[in-house]
Amino acid sequence: MTKSAQDKLRVALVGAGGIARAHMRYYQDMDDVEMVAVADVVLERARDCCEEYEIPQAYADYAEMLRQAEPDAVSVCTPNNLHAPCTIAALDAGAHVLVEKPLAMNAREGQKMLDAAEKNGKKLIIGFQNRYEPKTQLIKKLVDDGELGAVLYARVQALRRRGIPNWGVFGRKDLQGGGPLIDIGVHMLETTHYAMGAPKPVAASGSTYTYIGDKPSNVISHWPNWDYQTYTVEDLAVGHIRFANGAMLSIETSFAAHIEKNEWNFTLMGEKGGANWDPPGLFHDANDYMVNTRPNWMPNGPAADAFGQKMRNFVDHVLYGVETLSPGEHGLMVQKMLDGLYESAEQRREVRID
Ligand SMILES: NC(=O)c1ccc[n+]([C@@H]2O[C@H](COP(=O)([O-])OP(=O)(O)OC[C@H]3O[C@@H](n4cnc5c(N)ncnc54)[C@H](O)[C@@H]3O)[C@@H](O)[C@H]2O)c1
Repeated sequence: MTKSAQDKLRVALVGAGGIARAHMRYYQDMDDVEMVAVADVVLERARDCCEEYEIPQAYADYAEMLRQAEPDAVSVCTPNNLHAPCTIAALDAGAHVLVEKPLAMNAREGQKMLDAAEKNGKKLIIGFQNRYEPKTQLIKKLVDDGELGAVLYARVQALRRRGIPNWGVFGRKDLQGGGPLIDIGVHMLETTHYAMGAPKPVAASGSTYTYIGDKPSNVISHWPNWDYQTYTVEDLAVGHIRFANGAMLSIETSFAAHIEKNEWNFTLMGEKGGANWDPPGLFHDANDYMVNTRPNWMPNGPAADAFGQKMRNFVDHVLYGVETLSPGEHGLMVQKMLDGLYESAEQRREVRID
């Protein structure tokens, strides 16, 4: 049944880059959403989106957009340094917010975002799509049902052999807060942490290394000619997170590393069993044998489209009160782990996470 205009969620977007366009593609197909405006400092980009996705208003200034368009909800799709100011402005303007990952540049900013949501009685959702993946749900359920026993250790990998973004500002520490750890490591970190049951992180130990991105390179790769002159983030980050329940997590993440191939995965090791995320598998003992169990069939189509599920869940959460898998609070917990790893790398010692 087609919704009338007044029943629809009126959504605006801040940022009209790559990920904003993904948001627009999904919103466009939703019967109960109307995109009302988009803002980008590069006005031309916002205008192009308006034309392509039939959005009535383009703005260069997001504050002006919030004042004039008065959206019910806002997608924040800017570089990381603007996640906090844009989110807080949108919440203060009375809109619910879906902010792209990571939550912010650091946990201090993240806390201010959560405070603004509470003060205004609005919803703040973090754009962690991996938790909507069927294989994440499978492993989370195994953990919740006690099939693995206590999870003792998690190994997390988000490794690119050579994948330094050659667009946007992903090499700028001042605008992004860091490199692969905060940009791609965050995806697998949040997924693993969620599957483990979101234990409380208490300490971090990490190291970061820059050795390729800040130099010119002739190596032939998928994304050549990145801006090495403004590259101030790490190429490789490694570290450990210690949790209050005694569990430990190790993470390896890179834009550039001398490894055989890219890795995008996590492994859990529990007292009774273990699990891999991709391909999903359960490893346990049965009838005196070591047994590997694999799902025979996994959902496909829209149910397996994690990004689509995340977008739909945001709208369902705001319009119909459906529970969300990715509340802003989870973004903050993950942000504290990122902060701890970066701080530890800087101080060259383990640091506490409060
Ligand atoms: N969930 C995911 O899988 C995923 C994937 C990619 C990116 N992201 C996140 O999305 C965010 C944006 O990434 P992207 O790949 O779209 O980058 P991008 O560079 O393609 O787009 C960012 C856009 O923000 C605009 N912008 C900058 N300052 C602005 C301002 N003051 N007001 C309005 N617009 C402004 C830029 O002009 C640009 O068009 C990042 O935080 C990134 O971590 C998430």
